Amino acid sequence: MQQGVTLDQFLETHMAQLPGDQADLRGLLADIAKACIELSDLVRRGELAGVLGAAGKENVQGEDQKKLDIIANDVFIEMTESTGRVAGLASEEMDNHYPIPEQHQRGKYLLTFDPLDGSSNIDVNGATGTIFSITEHSDTNAPSDNDFLQSGRKQVCAGYCLYSSASMLVITLGSGVAGFTLDNAKNAFVLTHPNMQVPTATNEFAINAAYSEHWQAPVKRYINECVAGKAGPIGKSFNMRWAGSMVGDIHRILCRGGIFMYPLDERMIKDGKQGKLRLLYEANPMGMLIEQAGGMAHTGLVSIMDIEPDNLHQRVPVIMGSTEEVERVVAYHQSST
Ligand code: AHG
Ligand code: MN
Ligand code: MN
Repeated sequence: MQQGVTLDQFLETHMAQLPGDQADLRGLLADIAKACIELSDLVRRGELAGVLGAAGKENVQGEDQKKLDIIANDVFIEMTESTGRVAGLASEEMDNHYPIPEQHQRGKYLLTFDPLDGSSNIDVNGATGTIFSITEHSDTNAPSDNDFLQSGRKQVCAGYCLYSSASMLVITLGSGVAGFTLDNAKNAFVLTHPNMQVPTATNEFAINAAYSEHWQAPVKRYINECVAGKAGPIGKSFNMRWAGSMVGDIHRILCRGGIFMYPLDERMIKDGKQGKLRLLYEANPMGMLIEQAGGMAHTGLVSIMDIEPDNLHQRVPVIMGSTEEVERVVAYHQSST
């Protein structure tokens, strides 16, 4: 591998091969990287930076907001609203999309993001992240919420930044997945994982097993078979991980394989919910990364990336990762319908 290639250098080379004028997308990715570096610094300093704890407010989904959820949202707005590269922003922490203020020029991209993923890990110094998805705005008018409702297949770029023992930015522009590690000495992301691939086979699953009493039959069957080990129908011993942050779990899967599940369960159905994770800023960007790395992203019934969204904060069941295991869980869903 070429040593010391920065994100900027990588984008310059990579984007020269893409059709059309990519300058704004390249600039937007550089802006996102800057926002992530600022957040990485705040997360690293934690209590010293005064960013831990609750904000004392709820978001539109009725979830308690942490200080860092709001700070992260603000950092992304500040870093992008005046660049002329985005037409509008939407995030987990805003009820509706954020229009670009009149005094600034609008660009052609829609940026949808989860400012801080794994909020429950903030105060315990666990892994957190930022997830983002970029689509194009089809005209020059100011976008409405509806313009953000594009299927995962329309994403021109998706990625996340993981804030953990190292901070890593992982992106796809639709031709493979590249991972960059933050070099704090250079204040820049450096290419360290040039071609991330999800192995087809795995013996590691990630699910919050505390909800097992609420699981539906296909998920119960699958996890029972995993824990049955070598003597069970799958015929191999499994390991289990649950990071409490989708970014942490998906990053591990991009590094060494695995299956991640946040399925639809009976409790959600009773509450009129279609899942826990959000389609536009969690499932779709992670789905694109996983597919681009050779894995599979599904709800059990349909491919995540094919869903036509009907709501900014729409929730979906998520089953993604190593193809062999995702296919197995999908088959169990199909045979139970
Ligand atoms: P967020 O912090 O952005 O609301 O997302 C949290 C999500 C996801 O990152 C993680 O996989 C999952 O919620 C954890 O949920 P449980 O606490 O139910 O395990
Ligand atoms: Mn999240
Ligand atoms: Mn979040």
